[in-house]
Parts: sequence; structure tokens; C-alpha cells
Amino acid sequence: MTGQNNNPLPDWDTLTFSLTETDCMYRSLGDTEREPVWDEGEFMPFQGITISPAAALMSYGVGVFEGLKAQRTTDGRILLFRPDANAVRMRNSAERLMMPPFPIEQFIDSCVAVVRRNERFIPPPEYGSLYLRPMQHAVEPQLGLGPCRHFATHIFCSPVGSYFRGGSPQGVRLKVLEQGRVAPGGTGWAKAMGNYAGAIWVAQQWKDQGFDDVLYLDAHHLQYLTETSGSNPFVLLKSGALVTPPLDSQILPGVTRDSTLRIARDLLSLDVQERELSIQEVLEEGEEMFCTGTAWTLLNVREVVHKDEVKLLEKDDLRMELLEILRGIQTGEREDPFDWIREV
Ligand code: COI
Repeated sequence: MTGQNNNPLPDWDTLTFSLTETDCMYRSLGDTEREPVWDEGEFMPFQGITISPAAALMSYGVGVFEGLKAQRTTDGRILLFRPDANAVRMRNSAERLMMPPFPIEQFIDSCVAVVRRNERFIPPPEYGSLYLRPMQHAVEPQLGLGPCRHFATHIFCSPVGSYFRGGSPQGVRLKVLEQGRVAPGGTGWAKAMGNYAGAIWVAQQWKDQGFDDVLYLDAHHLQYLTETSGSNPFVLLKSGALVTPPLDSQILPGVTRDSTLRIARDLLSLDVQERELSIQEVLEEGEEMFCTGTAWTLLNVREVVHKDEVKLLEKDDLRMELLEILRGIQTGEREDPFDWIREV
């Protein structure tokens, strides 16, 4: 099926991080016994998909996803942020789940085309962005657990506003959990759907008690920071060092995490450390804290609660400086010294 919907636009003033059905999505089908594995794909109206209830996606969660954003600039251009980085991460994630890698160029070109075909859904500058959600999963009916042959990659999009719209402007409250988000050596470093499925219940227990999200400690020692449900933490210590946990099997290599590191090192010449960071060190030495993610952007953390200890982190200067630079690059207001922007 080809063509487009003609769905209504949302109210730009009240945009949240929620789905607005847009006009067009992309789908490519993969077959590992064919060369090339992935067909060139097609564009179709945003719609439900038909899948066998026996597909390995449904029982076993054989699927990965991505998230990236396009922005409208004040002079009318449309900019996509680091689609190559998401393309590479989706390949890596797919291979971890024994799925065939989706070609990098095809990923980027399809993202660009999805943005173009949904151009009217890109919010005006300052009101939000167009969030793209590429996803790849197994489609064939298969009862036993084992490698699959047939796959699909879809790319759809939605205009979005801030993830915690309506939340406290002072920042989020995080409950520190004596538990890992994922198992060491597991799929935590891949953007596997199952990593997120398991986190919903955990976070909800604490959201019901007034927290915004949870912060997981490492599964091995229950000492070191790893991630929230969907973002990478950074802590500015009293010494002036900006610290974030190093990439390992429990940590997703966030694109916003990497962008923040590059800006902090190369543009602000900060003392940036990727190293293990214990919750004790945060409680004793932490001065400012924020979390990074495509959906979260850079979000300040106002309070962390670990067991009975409450730590208030009232400063927000560094995050604001980093976010201003990142936003400037993403919206074309600033020069892009890293070659991150892809003009649509
Ligand atoms: C993103 O930040 O793009 C994500 O995929 C995280 C998700 C929990 C919204």
C-alpha cells in the first residue's frame, strides 16, 4: 500500500511526549536467505501492522528500536540530528538479538524520507521536535526459541514536546534502587525492547509515591550508578569533574550521552571522566546532576533518594550551558563543529 493519511495536526502549545498519528511510515522486509537481505522498502499511511501471533517478536521479544529527532529551524530548514549514530546502534542492537543488520545508508535515507513526507507535523521552532522511532523485529511464526529468517524494519514518527511536561521546573526526583536494570553480560547495551518492558513496573512503584523515575545501581555490586529507565546519568562533583558511568554491558551507549561528552570535552574543556561512580560518592561529593537521552534531552535531577538518605542537588548551571550548546547545534542556531547535522 502506498499513499499518505491526512491526519489532524496536534495543538503545538500542549505537545507532550505522546503519539500523534502522522501521515506516512516506512517498512522494509528482510529475509536472511536473500541477497540483499533487506528490500528497498515502501512508504505507506501510518497504520496498524499485521503479524502472526506466533511471531518470535510476540513471544520472545525479538526486537530492537531507536529514537532520533528532527527540528525545524527559524529560517525554515529541517535538521535531523546524528542519524548515522542511530543507524550504527540499531545494527549493533540487531546483531545482539541475532537479526540481520539494516544498511546504514538505507536507514539514514529512509529517516530523511519519513521526515519529508511528514513535514507538516514538525513543530514550529521552540515548540518541540519530530521524534522518529525506527524499529526492527522478527516476523515469522516460530514456536521454539532459535534464530529467525524473516524480519521487518518500520520507521514511524510523531511530533513531541518535553518528556516531563508539567513536571517540576526544578528537576526530577529519582529513587535509587538496590537493583540492576539489566543483567551483567545481558542485553543492556543494546536497545532491545525487553530491556524497557521490564522497567515499567519497577518505575511505576515509585512514580506512585511521587518520584519521577528510578536510578538503577549496577547488578553486580549494587554500588555504582548505571541508568534510569531510559537515560544516562551525569554528576558534577565538588572537585569540578563531570562524571558519567563508563559503557559496559549494563549501559546503553546513548547518542545524547556521547554528544554531551563531546561538547563538555571539546567545547568547554571540562574535566570529563567516564568511570565507575558510586552512589556514596554522589551523596558525599555530588554538586549537580542531570540525565541525558533523546527523549529526555538533558534533564536536571533535583533530588536523589537512596535508602533513607535524601540528597538535594540544587545547582543547574552546567546542564543549562551544555543544553544550550546542544540545542543550538540541533536547531541550526550554532555552528556544528562535529558534523552531526543532516539537512533534510
Ligand atoms: C529515547 O530517549 O529516545 C528512548 O528511546 C527512551 C524511551 C524510554 C523514550
